[in-house]
Amino acid sequence: MADATTLAALRAAAFEAMEQAYAPYSKFRVGAALLTPDGQIITGCNVENAAYPAGTCAERAAIGAAVVQGRRAFTHVVVATEASVPTPPCGMCRQVLHEFAPSLHVISVTRSGATAEWPLADLLPFAFESSSLRDA
Ligand code: THU
Repeated sequence: MADATTLAALRAAAFEAMEQAYAPYSKFRVGAALLTPDGQIITGCNVENAAYPAGTCAERAAIGAAVVQGRRAFTHVVVATEASVPTPPCGMCRQVLHEFAPSLHVISVTRSGATAEWPLADLLPFAFESSSLRDA
């Protein structure tokens, strides 16, 4: 488990990323901050599009930013929103997070300080993964 100082930094980074969200259609701003095993923080925000399905979630933006930096292992993700209740990652983001970090610890936070935490494995049991392709 990451220490309290690291988790506080991760939370702050997620809210900072949320400030950059481009969400003119849903008005639902999301920031995500990934933590690598050696303590690096990599962030993303949601980026919507006039062609709605072309929009991207914060978690997947963070994964993309991390992979281009050569980072593919993560221990925690903090998802920050302005919702009143902490929101879990959407199904597509669960799948993308699982690709790199099946043991990820997911933490969702709100402005008011409400927090929810889940192991990714609880949010996405029986995930489809690379090993699933082998028997095709
Ligand atoms: N969104 C995220 O960024 N992450 C999630 O896990 C849930 C949804 C974004 C997508 C869209 O821009 C907005 O929130 C409303 O669905």
